[in-house]
Amino acid sequence: MKPITAVVLGAGSRGATYAGYAKEFPEDLQVVAVAEPRADRRDLLADALDIPEDGRFASWQELLARPRMADCAFVCTLDDDHTEPAIKAMELGYHVLLEKPMSNSEDECRRITEAAERTGRVLAVCHVLRYTPFYMTLKDLIDRGEIGQVTAVNQIENVGYWHQAHSFVRGNWRNTAETSPMLLQKSCHDMDILLWLVGRDCQRVQSFGSLRHFTPENAPEGAPARCTDGCPHADTCPYYAPRLYMDMSRTGWPVDVITTDLSEAGRRRALEEGPYGRCVYRCDNDVVDRQVVNLEFEGGAVATFTMTAFSADFSRQLKIFGTAGQITADMGTGQIVLHRFGEEKKTIPVDTASSGHGGGDYGILGDFLHILRHGGESRTSAKVSLQSHLICFAAERSRKEHIVVEL
Ligand SMILES: NC(=O)c1ccc[n+]([C@@H]2O[C@H](COP(=O)([O-])OP(=O)(O)OC[C@H]3O[C@@H](n4cnc5c(N)ncnc54)[C@H](O)[C@@H]3O)[C@@H](O)[C@H]2O)c1
Repeated sequence: MKPITAVVLGAGSRGATYAGYAKEFPEDLQVVAVAEPRADRRDLLADALDIPEDGRFASWQELLARPRMADCAFVCTLDDDHTEPAIKAMELGYHVLLEKPMSNSEDECRRITEAAERTGRVLAVCHVLRYTPFYMTLKDLIDRGEIGQVTAVNQIENVGYWHQAHSFVRGNWRNTAETSPMLLQKSCHDMDILLWLVGRDCQRVQSFGSLRHFTPENAPEGAPARCTDGCPHADTCPYYAPRLYMDMSRTGWPVDVITTDLSEAGRRRALEEGPYGRCVYRCDNDVVDRQVVNLEFEGGAVATFTMTAFSADFSRQLKIFGTAGQITADMGTGQIVLHRFGEEKKTIPVDTASSGHGGGDYGILGDFLHILRHGGESRTSAKVSLQSHLICFAAERSRKEHIVVEL
């Protein structure tokens, strides 16, 4: 089998994830070029994949100024820098794997959708949950009619206290002006999954939420600007950065986000100088730390969704109520329990061993490559994914204006 060729635009965490697939399955995927302004990240990825010097670019703008050099492009830049590279790549003839959210602007999401249709390129948005054995099993149970008609769904996204601190207080997605609102950034996945499971269009939404805890008023007495400045609460604060990042046995995400130099000195320097050593009560964050969304679907099914920073676990849980039974499911433990009314409960086994979003990262990439070889439509095409994004924009409006928004 001849490998599909790809260029990676943005060699951060996500770019490296997809590059990892090329390393593991070189017969399926070959990365021929990378664009990344940070030389350390660019070289780390390029060296791992033996990409020659003339395949290393300082930006997507430079790479896409050249004629097309591969079958597809992986757009793995940050949320506010997806639209132009995705559209330019499709216009050059690349098929595109686009990280979510498609964009942090509704208008740009529509432009991307229009460009995918106009150019006829395959565009898959990385709603990786649709490709996990866990959610595929739930979808299959519903589609087989095991619980009758879906009447209601409750889904909880337990972000996890340390993950919130890492990504949404200290990290990339802490400030709406620079990135996306938290619901769009983190939970467009959940809106997408609810749409997929219910199988009907969403008609109206309502949302509540705010930033409550990670603010200067909540800083414990005497807490300095950085954990490394001799914080008196080092032993008791769950967010104390050296505890989260200095465990030398840990080398993967999220530790590899703070620096490419994973030595003790490298990590310490990153905490002393970079964003991840800051006190969580003294950052420039403004995104919510918990939010709820209520949704009503065509046909009358309803759903409620809770995203919260304040959880010890880092997983999704849901309960799906049907006219003939219920499903209780926990992605963290991989447990799915089907209880049809009047029958014994049944536990459905699910593969939870797969890493990378429960198998979703490699699942979506494998499916994308399969479509490029054999044709077909992505489960998470631009047109499909636009719907979950529109729900997020509407929910944000509802949260801010205290209104129910019709879609
Ligand atoms: N599908 C998922 O479940 C999932 C999970 C996490 C993140 N994401 C999304 O993936 C995207 C990337 O996230 P990440 O965690 O990899 O962030 P990151 O910060 O680790 O990586 C982004 C990279 O883009 C690079 N970059 C900036 N300007 C560039 C340019 N002009 N040309 C090329 N590269 C440029 C940055 O230097 C950085 O290395 C985000 O939109 C994020 O929301 C998706």
